[in-house]
Amino acid sequence: MTTLDALVRPAEYPRSSHYDPAWLLGLDMGPHPLWLLEDLCRDLDLRPGMRVLDLGSGRGATSVFLAREFGVEVVAADLWVAPDQAAEVFAAAGVADRVHAVRAEAHDLPFARASFDAIISVDAYEYFGTADSYLAYISRFLKPGGQLAIATPGMTREIRDLGAIPAHIKACVGWEAIAWHTADWWRFQWEITELVTVISARLQPDGWRDWLRWARAGLDHGTDDREGTKKVIAMLEADQGEFLSFALVTARMNGTAS
Ligand SMILES: C[S@@+](CC[C@H](N)C(=O)[O-])C[C@H]1O[C@@H](n2cnc3c(N)ncnc32)[C@H](O)[C@@H]1O
Repeated sequence: MTTLDALVRPAEYPRSSHYDPAWLLGLDMGPHPLWLLEDLCRDLDLRPGMRVLDLGSGRGATSVFLAREFGVEVVAADLWVAPDQAAEVFAAAGVADRVHAVRAEAHDLPFARASFDAIISVDAYEYFGTADSYLAYISRFLKPGGQLAIATPGMTREIRDLGAIPAHIKACVGWEAIAWHTADWWRFQWEITELVTVISARLQPDGWRDWLRWARAGLDHGTDDREGTKKVIAMLEADQGEFLSFALVTARMNGTAS
């Protein structure tokens, strides 16, 4: 049994430690969103008053964190979770004045060009962001010098180079794993466009352990997707970090601020 206290880890994730693990588990949609986001933010420069798009914001934990920790204005955009549901989370967390929920499809975003200082996506970009054309699309919504940041399931080796999806990964997510890439893949994919300058592209050394710790806690404390969570646990226990982690990638939009 994983105790909720085991999810409070001030040495590794000081900011996330201020958030109630039971509240976070109630918003669960995958790995621990705040551990990923807190680590990703180490490579970002977020300032109070900046306008930030949280793309694929899900049930809203990451948007609450961004507003509270950095004093930014957040647009929480998501496809599957209704804006009313997310708005309730923002109101209860006391950030409704700074976080605005919208229903949005990542390829058809209802925003003006150059309207964000940063676009951040936690455990969502793998669903929509791997097409060659996507960086050119999403970066149009950034101001010159604006920051793009993603945390996404990552691989130590490209599946293309392995020649097949490793069996324990395929058993959990099937073909969807072809959207999981190495940090070097992301760096090249973004830099070759010359639209952005990559600031950082790294795999979390212990990302798989964090994911496993979180998934076990979800199973012990009532996740609504027990079968899916059991599959994730089996995948991570088999993997032991051989292939799986999270890729954290950040970049700045080229061009000078007007
Ligand atoms: C695994 S959940 C993660 C949610 C949240 N970021 C978190 O970490 O808790 C992935 C999210 O991506 C969103 N998503 C998937 N495809 C999308 C698309 N085409 N456009 C917008 N959002 C999308 C889903 O609505 C879902 O909420």
